[in-house]
Amino acid sequence: MSESRQNWFEGWRLLAVLGLTLLALSVWIAGMQQFEVDGVRMVIRFTARTSLLLFCLAFSAAALARLWPNAWTRWQRRNRRYLGVTFAASHGIHAIAIAAFAMMDPAGYAAATSPASYIFGGIGYAVIIAMTATSFDRSAKALGASAWRRLHLIGGYYLLFQFAVSFGKRIPDMPLYALFLIPLLAVFALRMISMAAARTPRTVQAG
Ligand code: HEM
Repeated sequence: MSESRQNWFEGWRLLAVLGLTLLALSVWIAGMQQFEVDGVRMVIRFTARTSLLLFCLAFSAAALARLWPNAWTRWQRRNRRYLGVTFAASHGIHAIAIAAFAMMDPAGYAAATSPASYIFGGIGYAVIIAMTATSFDRSAKALGASAWRRLHLIGGYYLLFQFAVSFGKRIPDMPLYALFLIPLLAVFALRMISMAAARTPRTVQAG
């Protein structure tokens, strides 16, 4: 029984559970404001934050499992692909809410965006689509291991940068937004420490 319960939090089922939960919560949030533009904007902010959490879990998984192998980090490492695809689903809802915002309140939407948000956000979405499309066994194999690694490494760091810019630019108006940078810096630091740790034994042996 515990195994079947556990299975809902593993693999593609994890994506189904988390994805449907995000969708239900987004509809609920928009519904609280009678599906008016304020509710839609709340969904944009909500999915930006759920995306941040899911992205950080996926992008830190290998580093955490290497530095602190335990049941939680092994689960995270084992499921990082599904956490990554759930991040893409969360950003899919972000995109739908953005489109709804643009249609419902063109003037407010124009004030909330700029050419830079289209350029950097557009690249962000291209990266998310490319990474998601190559998150299946067959497409990953077709791309080849080294191109896959490069795409997911460069894409991951681009998204980290994009999150930092999107949250960071709001800090002058809302200083508490600086808190959102903490998980991003932590993920970056963990990856650097893990990379250094992976290199250390080889250096010692060589000496
Ligand atoms: C063309 C693509 C994109 C457009 C047009 C866009 C548009 C928007 C808009 C209009 C808001 C503000 C909502 C409001 O003030 O009510 C917003 C918030 C945000 N977006 Fe996007 N976005 C795009 C892509 C992305 C990407 C790729 C990321 C991250 C990888 C991202 C992360 C964020 C974040 C962090 C916020 C702030 C949420 C908050 O205030 O808590 N966006 N976006």
